[in-house]
Amino acid sequence: MERVLNFAAGPAAMPLEVLESIQKNICNFNGEGLSVMEMSHRSKTYDKIINETKENLKKILSLGDDFDVLFLQGGASTQFAMVPLNLADENDLTYYAVTGNFANKAFEEAKKWTNAVDITNSKVDKYKYIPEIDNSKLDKSAKYLHITANNTIFGTMYDKLPEIDVPLVADVSSNVLGKDYDYTKFALAYAGAQKNLGPAGLTVVIVNKKFIREDVRSKVPTMLRYDIHSKNNSMYNTPPTFAIYVAGEMFKWVINQGGVKELEKRNTEKANMLYDILDNSSLYKAFADKKSRSIMNVTFNLPSEELEAKFVEEAKKAGMINLKGHRVLGGIRASIYNAMTLEGVKALAEFMQTFESSNK
Ligand SMILES: Cc1ncc(COP(=O)(O)O)c(C=O)c1O
Repeated sequence: MERVLNFAAGPAAMPLEVLESIQKNICNFNGEGLSVMEMSHRSKTYDKIINETKENLKKILSLGDDFDVLFLQGGASTQFAMVPLNLADENDLTYYAVTGNFANKAFEEAKKWTNAVDITNSKVDKYKYIPEIDNSKLDKSAKYLHITANNTIFGTMYDKLPEIDVPLVADVSSNVLGKDYDYTKFALAYAGAQKNLGPAGLTVVIVNKKFIREDVRSKVPTMLRYDIHSKNNSMYNTPPTFAIYVAGEMFKWVINQGGVKELEKRNTEKANMLYDILDNSSLYKAFADKKSRSIMNVTFNLPSEELEAKFVEEAKKAGMINLKGHRVLGGIRASIYNAMTLEGVKALAEFMQTFESSNK
């Protein structure tokens, strides 16, 4: 069977070159006679894999020795708890920019562990945009401000990082390596791997070492402490070895593509192709406000749910899958992460135009 065009929000499409390289080595990694899946995480070969993977990510993001990269499990959702447990104490003030569903989950989790305050108000506008953050209103004693860099469900994104005098923490799950931020600006950034980094099961944490504390509350479980994972090079326990290896192959691919600047350029071109259609259509309506639009998840509506269902169904017949919007928002969502090619997006754009002509 031919490969489909997969517009899923995550787990998402991966570059064919990466899949083929993994396939080539699946049973016999580099002639060693066994698969990475069968390899001890304490072996010399695996040590090389994990260290190379870490170094390549740091190279891609231009990070020096003041930053550490951790390869963890539990998804981005576990970070919703790890961040407040490690970066703040019970009564410490922390800020949350609640710009969507996952941002709200992070906020709700943080309220259990710190004095977390929501500084935004876009819920009343269905999270259609990302509100400005006013630095002058922030109490500088706050331990951090948490943002969700790209709101996967709503299709909104920070084009620029907020300029603030409070440490910045970001959930970058859905635009890491797809949008070129200055990662030295983050105290900590985390991402579930299943969009731009590889397969589900791996969570990547990029952390400024200054923010790794050893004096966290004594009841914090060992597995939820950044200092423990950092000291053990992400091998306090058995790490998700195969997922880390695949992420390593993804990082090599990113380097070969010309890095994040180049990928952001391509992603912008891909997204604009779809937004142009939406803005000039009498059938489709873009969901997100122009100033906050994501270059990773393009969200839009048709006049009725019936027509949206027909759109999804006909797209599927044309080889384009997973275009149904998230159940929280409905509508249509095209996720066009790094692995989605320009040709793939062109095919969707053409389909959208044909569909509009026959459903006016
Ligand atoms: C922005 C964002 N944050 C967090 C999550 C939750 O991630 P996980 O399923 O890895 O816990 C998602 C999942 O899609 C997401 O898009």
